[in-house]
Amino acid sequence: METKIVAIDAKEPQPERIQEAARLIQRGGLVAFPTETVYGLGGDALDPEAAQKIYAAKGRPSDNPLIAHIADFGELSVLAAEIPDTARTLMRLYWPGPLTLIFKKTETVPFATTGGLDTVAVRMPSHPVARALIRAAGTPIAAPSANRSGRPSPTKASHVREDLDGHIDMLLDGGEVGIGLESTIIDVSSGEPLLLRPGFISEETLEETLGHLAVDAACMEPMASGKRPKAPGMKYRHYAPQAPMTIVHGPLAKVEKTICFHVKEALRAGKRVGILCTSESQPYYRQQLRNGCPDCHMSRLIASCSCAFPYKGAEALLMLEVSGPQTEPAKIAHHLYDALRSFDRAGIDIIYSESFEYGPLGGAIMNRLKKAAGYQILEV
Ligand code: TXA
Ligand code: MG
Repeated sequence: METKIVAIDAKEPQPERIQEAARLIQRGGLVAFPTETVYGLGGDALDPEAAQKIYAAKGRPSDNPLIAHIADFGELSVLAAEIPDTARTLMRLYWPGPLTLIFKKTETVPFATTGGLDTVAVRMPSHPVARALIRAAGTPIAAPSANRSGRPSPTKASHVREDLDGHIDMLLDGGEVGIGLESTIIDVSSGEPLLLRPGFISEETLEETLGHLAVDAACMEPMASGKRPKAPGMKYRHYAPQAPMTIVHGPLAKVEKTICFHVKEALRAGKRVGILCTSESQPYYRQQLRNGCPDCHMSRLIASCSCAFPYKGAEALLMLEVSGPQTEPAKIAHHLYDALRSFDRAGIDIIYSESFEYGPLGGAIMNRLKKAAGYQILEV
């Protein structure tokens, strides 16, 4: 299948391009499109065959349910059998926006979309392209993140192409997304609201709104074997680069020293090594690990050296990805998946990452990073 790539204005999407994409959705096709969180892989949420196609294109287990995206409040009654008061409060405050709510589903929603569950995940995105597409299609759009299952979510159209080119009908390229982490998910289907996935709308903010918010254990810890997380997607290794990754956690000075120690060992063993760090600690790694590239007189750091990769004559290589400044966790969140994908493109063998527990977004960032590392954490 050839994937048609269509450039689209992220602020004022061209109506004829949206119409073309909407017709594909109506005919049961798949269209990847930008949302404010990450790119989604869209199909008709009420068409079981479209759901099957989504699972196949992503290589995703079909027990991992999809989020149905709507553009108007009126559409919710097609999907949700009951709308509790807590949900109404959350919707009023955060929709349209990066919040997904889990409701009891109506009979209209096919089990293929919900992975066999009798609940349905619903989100009203704020991105103009997403909203225009849903409206033009005239149906809720099921959209998981537009990556191959297990890979980091796509924050740029080029990421979608890396994973899904040739497997979907169309990709609407609306440039880079704003947030870069998937939506916050709250289950409001049974009594007390339960946080299933942390996201841009932080736990603190939600606690202020709701008074109290229970948190599903699967949010930060690996699930004990035999236990089922409430969001089936949380049980899979996720957001992962190809190389094994270790998170080093502790006081920053110790973290930096430990990372340098392990990186030097790996370089000596001839490995291609990646470091994920903040802007603040970047100079330290440069200083400690520089070894003088004869071409640009900087270092063999791929990311900071103007030599083309792979560096000619180098026995070992190091790639430094700066996630962002500690003072701007939103930048760290925004760059996280792109950084993980850069390591893949550079053929990195092993990755060491700092911890990024900065500000209210720290929880969501660490949730993704820990899953990407398969919970390989070194305490120092
Ligand atoms: O920001 C986002 O939410 C993006 C954009 C495209 O909207 N979408 C997204 O979808 O992240 P996906 O499929 O990658 O993640 C959906 C998560 C999965 O962990 C899934 O298990 C959970 O939502 N989920 C979906 N339906 C559910 C349900 N009925 N009950 C519990 N968890 C559910
Ligand atoms: Mg996903």
